[in-house]
Amino acid sequence: MPFQELIESARKSYSARFGKEARWTVAAPGRVNLIGEHTDYNGGFVFPMAIERYTVIAAGPSDTPGTASLYSEIFDQTGEFSLLEKTPPAPKVDWHSYVGGTIACALEKGLRPKPFDGVIVSDVPLGGGLSSSASLEVAVATLVEAASDRKIDPVEKALLCQKAEHEYAMMPCGIMDQFISAMGEEGHAMLLDCRSFERESVPLDDPNVAVLVINSNVKHTLSGSEYPERRNDCARAAELLGVELLRDASLAALDAAREAIEAEPNGGRIFRRARHFLTEEERTARFADALRRGDYAAAGREMYAGHRSLKEDYEVTCPETDLLVDLAARLGLENGVYGARMTGGGFGGSTVTLVETGKAETASAAIAEKYETETGIKPSRFVTRPAAGARLIEE
Ligand code: GLA
Repeated sequence: MPFQELIESARKSYSARFGKEARWTVAAPGRVNLIGEHTDYNGGFVFPMAIERYTVIAAGPSDTPGTASLYSEIFDQTGEFSLLEKTPPAPKVDWHSYVGGTIACALEKGLRPKPFDGVIVSDVPLGGGLSSSASLEVAVATLVEAASDRKIDPVEKALLCQKAEHEYAMMPCGIMDQFISAMGEEGHAMLLDCRSFERESVPLDDPNVAVLVINSNVKHTLSGSEYPERRNDCARAAELLGVELLRDASLAALDAAREAIEAEPNGGRIFRRARHFLTEEERTARFADALRRGDYAAAGREMYAGHRSLKEDYEVTCPETDLLVDLAARLGLENGVYGARMTGGGFGGSTVTLVETGKAETASAAIAEKYETETGIKPSRFVTRPAAGARLIEE
């Protein structure tokens, strides 16, 4: 849905429900990560961009003291949240956890919002690996800022949203998603050092190249422990290498320690997790260089190699995302496809494909058609430019 339409639909829904005009409308985008996957929690580099898909909240002051009341259009449910004290996490994680957690962590940060009510709408696909949850958290934090008449430092804002995800959604995520949703820059991808938080905005506004997102529309997380398990493997690898974070290790040091690591319980797996991280760091640097030079074919090769590493060493891909990448690779340069890889946490979700603009629709349709024939599942797909991060929409 075009951005303006999404804004209007949130405002209309607010007026219909509350009988008044919205005072504040906030928007926070989802993201696609171009490369640098499962690196953020190891202190490494990520290279995401915000996408033209948003969570939008239309809201206004209310008369219910100490309370925020938010209606989620997607779930057709209303949640009530205390603005007086940091409420504890609920045992069952659902959309309330992201909203309530963000409000609670914002209170803890010293924000003092006046009572408000609002309506949440979103066109970020849920469970598509495009950070629908981070966009919800960052939208809520942006609304809390507006209702408090105070802005906080955007890095602090990203960190409080990440804290909400850790403590209330029980997901030990890195910082990438909240960071790019809060701080994305239109026309640019963000090369972010997740240890120092230093960042470089890399232009990605060449009209000849398009970023294509294809959602496999499958989600395979069975126990939910796949992500924390990988985090733990990396922490163990760092420990065995005698460094605080894998960021401080090198491929040479990993090779030298190979035998010792492999002798440990699950050592083979731990070695491969670390190898993914260390090679992904190199790929991310080479990808960024290639993008700066406008050498999309070289950038694309890093994407394919990244996917392979996520498949073989990190084991977070699945047959459906493997197939999408494979179909893209089969089309190849002659059909305008530079490269493709899975994006986000994995186990389903979406792929990101770099493609020549003039051939994007044909390539995208061809991949979708073959994917549907082979799997029986209809993928969703869209081309997106790098969008701006969260904001309060002024008229
Ligand atoms: C999820 C997490 C991020 C990051 C990616 C993998 O999206 O929220 O912090 O770890 O997975 O790169």
